[in-house]
Amino acid sequence: MSIIFYLVLWYNLNVMQNVLITGAAGFLGSHLCDRFIKEGFRVIGMDNLITGDMKNIEHLFPLPQFEFYHHDVTKFVHIPGKLDYILHFASPASPIDYLKIPIQTLKVGSLGTHNLLGLAKEKNARILIASTSEVYGDPLLHPQSEDYYGNVNTIGPRGVYDEAKRFMEAITMAYHRFHGLETRIVRIFNTYGPRMRLNDGRVIPAFIGQALRGEDLTVFGDGLQTRSFCYIDDQINGIYKLLMSEYSEPINIGNPEEITIKSFAQEIIEQTQKKVKIKYLPLPEGDPMKRKPDISKAKEILNWLPEIDRKKGIEKTIEYFKDFSDERLYQSDHRNFYANQ
Ligand SMILES: NC(=O)c1ccc[n+]([C@@H]2O[C@H](COP(=O)([O-])OP(=O)(O)OC[C@H]3O[C@@H](n4cnc5c(N)ncnc54)[C@H](O)[C@@H]3O)[C@@H](O)[C@H]2O)c1
Repeated sequence: MSIIFYLVLWYNLNVMQNVLITGAAGFLGSHLCDRFIKEGFRVIGMDNLITGDMKNIEHLFPLPQFEFYHHDVTKFVHIPGKLDYILHFASPASPIDYLKIPIQTLKVGSLGTHNLLGLAKEKNARILIASTSEVYGDPLLHPQSEDYYGNVNTIGPRGVYDEAKRFMEAITMAYHRFHGLETRIVRIFNTYGPRMRLNDGRVIPAFIGQALRGEDLTVFGDGLQTRSFCYIDDQINGIYKLLMSEYSEPINIGNPEEITIKSFAQEIIEQTQKKVKIKYLPLPEGDPMKRKPDISKAKEILNWLPEIDRKKGIEKTIEYFKDFSDERLYQSDHRNFYANQ
């Protein structure tokens, strides 16, 4: 290739804005990488692959504006050169994962966040951290607004995730107040779409996987517990808008449309057109009964609203899983252990 090509490339890479995305090989992280590439950023992805999959980002490897570091963010993080933004999305996120690797979950939320805040301070970068609706625990307020302090059992099995995220928010606000760092906090509610792991224990891939295999769908408890599901493209839009906004307190991003698990199972059966039934099992410990975001702040401050309805989002997600080989479809790592998350 000509010298001019390399000069143009060198120029572009040096004037482009740089963003570091941790958890890049995961579900949300990989979609964020795609979005920032599309917006014209130079993207540095980082992941230790504890729950992620390189397949999610392999299409980005040929691009000169994408770089990947295989690194554990609980260890010191060094990135040469300038950095404009950091999005900290590294963390096990499904209950099955964080129950299996509780110490790593606590460390990535605490030590990992501390390392990345330090990096943001060194580089004078704006940092957005991925918090969760789990900071509200089993909520006594419905729907959950950002000023609700939550109902979390610190020592219950889910405490490792919930408390890691609560610490993450606290240290982020401390860096904001004490060091004047530009920080953003997104409280993510259940998000779904292509690139979720089929057997990660969350209800959407679990139901779709069961239906595609021709198995009955497992509902825990009486199925009257509710969930609200946000499609990935809506979630990524909300996160992008928050990062570019001037708002440094936590913001809920999720879809407030609520559905019972039982009705949702029926919807999946209809949409996959499989002749399967629903079977009921006892409710696991700590399974929240209700989850629904109050998104008035996101609407008012970010001018954000979810746009993709559940039927359309589920259709796209089923399409993604339909392409799986039988080997992937029948992979059995967590098939019998999921809860209706
Ligand atoms: N998906 C959701 O509905 C949801 C809801 C609330 C919050 N979140 C948050 O969003 C983020 C991403 O969730 P996800 O659903 O994409 O999960 P995911 O498991 O698909 O992705 C997480 C990624 O982080 C990586 N990772 C974990 N520990 C790491 C470490 N120490 N160093 C480097 N990489 C590490 C994993 O390998 C994985 O690729 C998490 O912080 C999660 O808490 C997600």
